[in-house]
Amino acid sequence: MTGKGRGAFITFEGGDGVGKSTQMALLAERLRNAGHEVVTTREPGGSPGAEAIRELLVTGKPDRWSPLTEALLMYAARADHLQKTVNPARARGAVVLCDRFADSSMAYQGYAGGLGEGPVAALERLVVGTDGPSLTLILDAPAATGLARTSARGGAHRFEAKGVDYHERVRRGFLKIAAAHPERCAVIDASRSVAAVAADVAAAMHARLGLKV
Ligand code: TYD
Repeated sequence: MTGKGRGAFITFEGGDGVGKSTQMALLAERLRNAGHEVVTTREPGGSPGAEAIRELLVTGKPDRWSPLTEALLMYAARADHLQKTVNPARARGAVVLCDRFADSSMAYQGYAGGLGEGPVAALERLVVGTDGPSLTLILDAPAATGLARTSARGGAHRFEAKGVDYHERVRRGFLKIAAAHPERCAVIDASRSVAAVAADVAAAMHARLGLKV
């Protein structure tokens, strides 16, 4: 796909500490070795404006924002990120890899936070429209496994302090999204070794997008 038409947009989703960043870095390296231009980015953030909004989101007390305000801030950041980073990269044929995207708003604010599907889906239609991902890799592991990994690496942010029940709802939310969008989403068991997860990521890239890595 690189260099011809719109580049693929691949999002990594899952709870905190499931290993998204590690897997994204490995996939980026494999794609570059295969000759693709790759842009790696993250949400909330990924453009100067969105990174400024990120600071508001990840700092302060766990209850600093209501689920609605959180969703609006996430989508304000996402609008800027799509416009300034993701869409221009795809337009020149680059493959874009993004650590979290719109499914995180549905899982965290919509399902775990209790805002519900309707408001988050409305924001998604407004802001993302047809600019959504070609493939979403959902890394799935028990909430306690992920939270143990994030507390071991230190520097926990606002969301990690929301408690294990919240994070179990996040996990179930992602599985619900995957079941509703099987053509776009691949669920990968992230409680295994880095190498085993990476092999499944590569298999999904081939099966879903025809990209050999
Ligand atoms: P991130 O930097 O990916 O944290 P981590 O590396 O721990 O996964 O994201 C920060 C937090 O923001 C994370 O706990 C998930 C949350 N989040 C939402 O609640 N909604 C969203 O739409 C996004 C993109 C992230």
